[in-house]
Amino acid sequence: MLCAAGTFTAMHAQTQYTIAADKVKAHIQPTMYGIFFEDINLAADGGVYAELVKNRSFEFNMPLMGWKEQKKDGGDGRTEVINRAVERPENAHFIKSYITTDAGFYGFSNEGFRGMGVKEGEEYSFSVIAKQEGDTNVKLNIELHGDNDAVIGKAELTPTDKEWNRYSVKFKSSATTQKAQLYVWMSGKGVIDLDMISLFPEHTWKNRPGGLRADLVQRLADLKPGFLRFPGGCIVEGRELSNRYQWKKTIGAVDKRENIINRWNTEFKHRPTPDYYQTFGLGFMEYFMTAEDIGASPLPILNCGMACEFNTGELVPLDKLDPYVQDALDLIEFANGDASTKWGKLRTDLGHPAPFNLKMIGVGNEQWGPQYIDRWKIFTKAIKTKYPDIKIVSALGPSPDGKEFDLLNKTFRGLGADILDEHYYAPAKWFRDNARRYDNYDRKGPKIFAGEYAAQSKSTVNPDNKNNWECALSEAAFMTGLERNADVVNMASYAPLFAHVEGWQWTPNLIWFDNLKSYATPNYYVQQLFSINKGTDVVPLTLNNEAIAGQNDSYATASLDKNTNELVIKFVNTSTSAQNVSFKITGSKGYQKQATVTTLKADDKDAENSLTAPTAVSPVESKIDISGNTLKLAVEPYSFKVVRLKNK
Ligand code: AHR
Repeated sequence: MLCAAGTFTAMHAQTQYTIAADKVKAHIQPTMYGIFFEDINLAADGGVYAELVKNRSFEFNMPLMGWKEQKKDGGDGRTEVINRAVERPENAHFIKSYITTDAGFYGFSNEGFRGMGVKEGEEYSFSVIAKQEGDTNVKLNIELHGDNDAVIGKAELTPTDKEWNRYSVKFKSSATTQKAQLYVWMSGKGVIDLDMISLFPEHTWKNRPGGLRADLVQRLADLKPGFLRFPGGCIVEGRELSNRYQWKKTIGAVDKRENIINRWNTEFKHRPTPDYYQTFGLGFMEYFMTAEDIGASPLPILNCGMACEFNTGELVPLDKLDPYVQDALDLIEFANGDASTKWGKLRTDLGHPAPFNLKMIGVGNEQWGPQYIDRWKIFTKAIKTKYPDIKIVSALGPSPDGKEFDLLNKTFRGLGADILDEHYYAPAKWFRDNARRYDNYDRKGPKIFAGEYAAQSKSTVNPDNKNNWECALSEAAFMTGLERNADVVNMASYAPLFAHVEGWQWTPNLIWFDNLKSYATPNYYVQQLFSINKGTDVVPLTLNNEAIAGQNDSYATASLDKNTNELVIKFVNTSTSAQNVSFKITGSKGYQKQATVTTLKADDKDAENSLTAPTAVSPVESKIDISGNTLKLAVEPYSFKVVRLKNK
């Protein structure tokens, strides 16, 4: 049993498995292993969205949160927070600073998201939307302060206009630190209005100005994901409908994207995050482009007229659902329409004339109850009438079984749903015990999207949950069952994706990061190994004509990769004993002499990765000889192996 600890001297007698390499059982969809993205744990603001300034447009409930008044060299002044909601409801606040001294400096510092991560020699772009009042000529001195308050970068800027205008200046950092602060000093007597005070690294993902953290997007690209689900998660729903996710408010100029509170700001009393808001700098255009960049099919999930049922559960009356449905129809046009359509033209004007090739859309996140079914029917009818080829992803609630699950499962199957979204946040043992979950699913019914899952080492939403090896290995065991049933299971994604080590609300997560670095968890490497080794077609791997799902504490699957002409074997050993196994392969003309073996293992079920030991549990490659059509493999305790055999 995986739960047992200790050293591993015992060895199972050799077990011979059979692989029928000429008997394709199922085609593996290119979408099979993908990514679930949600702005939880500072994943977007404070994370992958590379903006370094927190509360850049003063839209937090406390408009100066994150900012601190500063004075030096005898300078003085005062600042008012102005609310122009009537004129600019989407960006109501700005600050008006009165500099009351001729000499010295008055201004503000910004603390960033748990500090600002900056690197020596890298260039940073400061920008601001500003307006001088009257005949004044207030000058801005920008400083980056590093460790011990040392100035590690600076620049000057004088906004000249008496109308709002955007100004920017670049400078380099002379030091590397996680905890820089930005100082905006004002000098020269006068009055100046400031909004959208921003600092970005020049080096972003694909070097897009105002873009995404390159190191974090690279982690996603390295997963070679089949799809990108966005923007969540419960964030789609909002605690109440007023703070649901509205995609149309997340595109175009960033100063026109209405900021709202992040629903994870207040969700957990044990992990409150009062400075968590959504700027939507990472909005729908950026999500679609990122999906395209990393070769993933986009999968947007839309609000279906329901707020989060764990919170208010507010509902839009059925006869008032039209704007919500229209948002879905317009999104499809935005993604796929040409420039002759209203929304296709907007995408073109935003710099992307080519369609995003949207093929599926989620109606609701993790909804349940008859109220969901009522709304789902209205959405489905409207979408299918206009876009019959778009596949609809339908929620089956938050649990993989129980009354709510059964109602939705039965109803949606009866209504001919396309894709059902199952979620399982469960103990590690559940994952090992459920490796056969899909073996008997209806082959002619809807396809399955394992849309959110992660083994919980303590219990769901417990802040002590760890991304440990037992959880990762148990997920690997379960995933052999997903892959074996690829004719039913078409998509799967671990959740949540990202977490800032100083700003998280939920654990476990796939990737942890600080302001400069990140590390991939053992769970990440499991996802990655499945994804990059998924192959194209499942073939039977059996013992006594049965699939391997727990015999000898082992789990296994085999697939052909018709693109590379290889046979791929995945073998998970969850026991404390080493195993000598062999695979007798039939239906093949033979293999090249050497096969590649990738091993992911740890001696300790509690092993984890960390910022200081990022690859403690990580894949190691080796070669193995194969004679004839039999492969012998020594499998260590607590290990997951992927073997690739090249056809002759
Ligand atoms: O992944 C974290 C949360 O878990 C998601 O927002 C929600 O869909 C689920 O309950």
